[in-house]
Amino acid sequence: MAVVYNQLVPVLFGNGALDLLGEKVKELGGTKAMLVYDGGVKAAGIAPRAEASLRNAGVDFVVFDKVQSDPADYLVNECGALAVEAKVDCFIGVGGGSSLDCTKAASLLMNHPAPIEQYFTAPPSFLECCVPVVLCPTAAGTGSEVTQVAVITSSVDHSKPSVFMRSSLAIVDPELTYTVPPRVTANTGLDAFTHAAEAITAKGRNPRSELLAKTAIEKITKYLPQAYDDGKNVEARYEMALAANWAGIAFQDTDCHLGHCMADGISAKYHTPHGYNCIVVDPELMVECAKFVPDKVKIVGAAAGARFDGTEDAAAIGKKTADAIRALMRRVGIRSPKESGMAREDFIECAKMAMEIDYGLRLNCPFEPTLENVSEIYARSYDNY
Ligand SMILES: [Fe+2]
Repeated sequence: MAVVYNQLVPVLFGNGALDLLGEKVKELGGTKAMLVYDGGVKAAGIAPRAEASLRNAGVDFVVFDKVQSDPADYLVNECGALAVEAKVDCFIGVGGGSSLDCTKAASLLMNHPAPIEQYFTAPPSFLECCVPVVLCPTAAGTGSEVTQVAVITSSVDHSKPSVFMRSSLAIVDPELTYTVPPRVTANTGLDAFTHAAEAITAKGRNPRSELLAKTAIEKITKYLPQAYDDGKNVEARYEMALAANWAGIAFQDTDCHLGHCMADGISAKYHTPHGYNCIVVDPELMVECAKFVPDKVKIVGAAAGARFDGTEDAAAIGKKTADAIRALMRRVGIRSPKESGMAREDFIECAKMAMEIDYGLRLNCPFEPTLENVSEIYARSYDNY
């Protein structure tokens, strides 16, 4: 069977890369930017650094700094309207996945009539933005800077539909992650872990994604605890930034699968962080996947530190992999759903939402998700961690 692997978004990677923002925007033809970030980026002193780089390069800019986590459709519409009114000729997003996704979606409103809601589609319908879009992640997690999906929260039913477009350039500067607090470091790093684990086991898997995702898991397993313990650990932050970016490139090609539907089900009910929601179901998702693609789950497990002697059957591969993931989760302080205050029955009920959202992702699962087996994965995730 033929497989596809894409070369989508160029990446400028390295410590201090943000200082090249102005020059790069100018090279892309930008003269007046819509600069999108949130309060946290401002407080961390990152926004002033981005603004200084733009000023030094003679690039004018307008600021939209109202981004909130899991950005709602109305925020995207507000940002887009401001950009149209200001007649900007490029977009820059600086922040976590929420800011980057808001930037991507709002940029589409330069050449597509508002509101953004009319472009939510599954399966994806890809849209072209008419101006350059530069994305600078400040956390090692979503990989949004290199993916062509922007996840927006519907203000109608709290579901998380997507719009699809690609950005022009990613600037990944590990220094921007130094101030990310431990809890957020853990959640975002484990989001990247699940991107890699789902990319390796997805129906749409390919050899290049597997290579990137496997290396990403090895890096996350080694360096996430170090970054969690000491946010200023230069090596750990550098490797985590690389891992999250590579996991992003990996799942950009293959897509994620059921874990991200299940995470969105939890998010809709509890509004807990995306990375937490993804990782909390990941071990038992791997147990289920092992029944169908044991060799692929074994790659995930081995990269996460599980030891295999070659005698394991599918169930043993699943269990060893799940145990390795749970050990990493405990090491970086991930609480169980119960410890997070979620009631067992309510948690399992997230299966209904998971089965309603994003048909495309569920189809990419190596087994056929049903309300019954998805409910079982939630139940085991609740009981076994
Ligand atoms: Fe994710």
